[in-house]
Amino acid sequence: MSNLEQTLSIIKPDAVERNLDAEIKEFFKNKGFLILKEKKIQIDKSEAEKFYKVHETKPFYNDLCNYLSSGPIVVMVLQKENAVKVNRELMGATNPKDAEEGTIRKKYGISIDKNSVHGSDSIDNAKMEIDFFFKD
Ligand code: CMP
Repeated sequence: MSNLEQTLSIIKPDAVERNLDAEIKEFFKNKGFLILKEKKIQIDKSEAEKFYKVHETKPFYNDLCNYLSSGPIVVMVLQKENAVKVNRELMGATNPKDAEEGTIRKKYGISIDKNSVHGSDSIDNAKMEIDFFFKD
């Protein structure tokens, strides 16, 4: 049975700042993802707060929202069979120091905040996150 899915990926400010966006996009394409939509933008803090609303009670919420709005990001809609799960596997653990060899966060991540990429964690969240950035 075909399980074609879409997920939202963000190349975060630490990676865009180091000009890693082209390399990270290539990585996804080489793993069989189609980049259906993409844009380079900078969001303001109130938009970051909306995007990360699920984390609003967490102690790291304020820093997280400051960080995501601190510089340009690249947001993409990625498509592939089982895209949500595969993307999360390829990103690696949230904290780069726990991420496995060969994952994006292991290779490029600097810290738990500056972990280079975000990816939707479920199909439902992928739909919401895609709408958040790409609803016309
Ligand atoms: P991301 O996948 O974008 O989702 C929420 C982000 O919060 C996460 O990546 C991390 O960059 C950041 N974060 C900061 N501190 C923590 C923490 N203690 N646990 C989980 N995520 C954290």
